[in-house]
Amino acid sequence: MDRELPIGLLDSGVGGLTVAKEIMRQMPKERIIYIGDNARCPYGPRPREEIQDFTWDLVKFLLNQKIKMLIIACNTATAAALVDIKAKLDIPVLGVINPGARAAIKATKNKSIGVIGTIATIESGAYELALKSIHPYVKVTSLACPKFVPIVESCEWNSRTANKIIDETLTPFKQSDIDTLVLGCTHYPLIYNSIHEVMGPNVKIISSGEETAREASVVLHHNNLMMDQFSTINHQFFTTGSRSRFKQIAQDWLEIPIATVGKARL
Ligand code: DGL
Repeated sequence: MDRELPIGLLDSGVGGLTVAKEIMRQMPKERIIYIGDNARCPYGPRPREEIQDFTWDLVKFLLNQKIKMLIIACNTATAAALVDIKAKLDIPVLGVINPGARAAIKATKNKSIGVIGTIATIESGAYELALKSIHPYVKVTSLACPKFVPIVESCEWNSRTANKIIDETLTPFKQSDIDTLVLGCTHYPLIYNSIHEVMGPNVKIISSGEETAREASVVLHHNNLMMDQFSTINHQFFTTGSRSRFKQIAQDWLEIPIATVGKARL
């Protein structure tokens, strides 16, 4: 396996950029190739089989570009397809749910953790399983927030309407005893400020990106796949949807200039 190959990341849209940002921060020598399926986003309300099929489309696209590691930077796709993809690929494959759960267990003091995510992620029970497999007596309160991904994908997150929706959706957590809230969807760090505002300063908010990047670095190192020297970093971004909208969000979030976003035909 060639260590010069990029790390492939996939998501239903722009959410996986929150993981990409952490990869870039923690492993600045590594090159990324990213695909967002913005044309078919959101995945969250879809049936499991459809999410699996769509995720495989993205995996095949990335494999055609040649990658040394795959990161499923989408909780919904991780919950539906990680096990199958991991079993069939001969490169390291990582999801975002176990890293998110690990980070939450590290952060909680009172062992009462909230999880927010898409309908598919919450209904899969994947977070509850991951959290309880680390700590059997942790209390997990889960909530599906199907309105959040469309807010992010439409770049509406600073609007008054978006803030109202976020505030109303999180109402069940306002009186709860959780001390830690897992952002169980990679889109949600883009609306971190609004979520933090609603939850207040006493609830720690966890996004899986940081811990996923840490795991990726360990796995690359272990497999002797880490880039050992700097070269000109040439990240590549692809979307199935609007290239201009993707570029705008990616540049703002990653704080790097992006020359072109490719149109992916799956
Ligand atoms: N970023 C995806 C996740 O982490 C968003 C899911 C969606 O498309 O609904 O779950």
